[in-house]
Amino acid sequence: MIIGVPKEIKNNENRVALTPAGVKELAKLGHTVYVQATAGAGSGFSDESYVAAGATILSTIEETYQVAEMIIKVKEPIEAEYNLIKKDQLLFTYFHFASYEPLTRAMIERGAICLAYETVERPDRSLPLLVPMSEVAGRMAIQEGAKYLEKPLKGRGILLGGVPGVRPAKVLVLGGGVVGTNAAKIAAGMGADVTIMDVNLSRLRYLDDVMPANVNTLMSNEYNIRDLLPTHDLIIGGVLIPGAKAPHLITRDMLKEMRPGTVLVDVAVDQGGCIETCKPTTHEDPIFIIDDVVHYCVANMPGAVPYTSTLALTNATLPYAIQLANKGWKKACIENNDLKLGLNVVGGKVVYKGVAEAFGLTHTPVENVL
Ligand SMILES: NC(=O)c1ccc[n+]([C@@H]2O[C@H](COP(=O)([O-])OP(=O)(O)OC[C@H]3O[C@@H](n4cnc5c(N)ncnc54)[C@H](O)[C@@H]3O)[C@@H](O)[C@H]2O)c1
Repeated sequence: MIIGVPKEIKNNENRVALTPAGVKELAKLGHTVYVQATAGAGSGFSDESYVAAGATILSTIEETYQVAEMIIKVKEPIEAEYNLIKKDQLLFTYFHFASYEPLTRAMIERGAICLAYETVERPDRSLPLLVPMSEVAGRMAIQEGAKYLEKPLKGRGILLGGVPGVRPAKVLVLGGGVVGTNAAKIAAGMGADVTIMDVNLSRLRYLDDVMPANVNTLMSNEYNIRDLLPTHDLIIGGVLIPGAKAPHLITRDMLKEMRPGTVLVDVAVDQGGCIETCKPTTHEDPIFIIDDVVHYCVANMPGAVPYTSTLALTNATLPYAIQLANKGWKKACIENNDLKLGLNVVGGKVVYKGVAEAFGLTHTPVENVL
């Protein structure tokens, strides 16, 4: 198959969909890979490293779309890319269709095959192409939280791990899923006193088994949250109710119960946030302060560490990309249900129910296009 890797043009996006290692694997299988010039630069991969792995460099985005049967990228196409997409071309990338109607209508009009990373689903209902970004965001939440706890950055001025003779900081993690587990692990590793809360008792049992001794588990409810707020220094929001807005576990009035300089990192901000006072911020201007409490609510945290995020994402996407390249999208989706669930828009038809419902469009069962 002929595969094209365009350079991401969305503002501040430095990730790339394929690393030189990925190119090498695809080339070994007999596929032809074209990479747009400087596509990997933001993640630390030079054009030369792609060529050495077997890719051909193309100088423009137009050529890259023109030549490819499958386009593999990171972010959803933006308006400038819509007209480059060809009928029956396979696009394998994040789309998040339900959040943006113009993109959905444009892809219907182009007649492309849109396979969305975010809806590829394992039989246990996990989302293997979203997990790596939650791992990055969860770990980064502690790094950012520790930084904003410093006094010059408006925090309480407490060192996460303490020192001999001085107690460490107290970290509260709301949600014990992928974000929460990764956050708790890093906070514990830095020596903090960590409490992780979830509503799922089996999950709490599992975390109690695998976490180190400085991590305690606690059932998530308003009483327990209110009880811990006055004594905790860093609070991480990592709850998710699939398909719904995040519940507000920390409400406006609760800020008064926290000490000045407490830091809130609401990773769930992309689903509306689990802290009522959170609103999305950017890497350029990541925090704001309400009632002396520091709020960090960056909606695309992994974007700040493109080297790690690119490798984490491509580790997860490459096995699927190889199946698509080897078999073609139709056979690959018939034989692998994870991939079939990734199909959103195919040849002008919306085949993912949630997307059709979001915009009142006709839903075509995915089996009808296979
Ligand atoms: N800001 C970013 O850059 C960024 C990056 C990656 C992920 N995210 C977001 O982070 C959030 C968490 O993602 P995840 O992958 O960890 O999800 P996940 O499904 O793995 O975990 C969510 C956890 O929340 C728990 N939960 C649900 N209701 C709860 C409640 N009332 N109290 C406590 N826990 C509750 C669930 O039981 C589950 O264990 C999502 O909204 C995701 O989109 C944001």
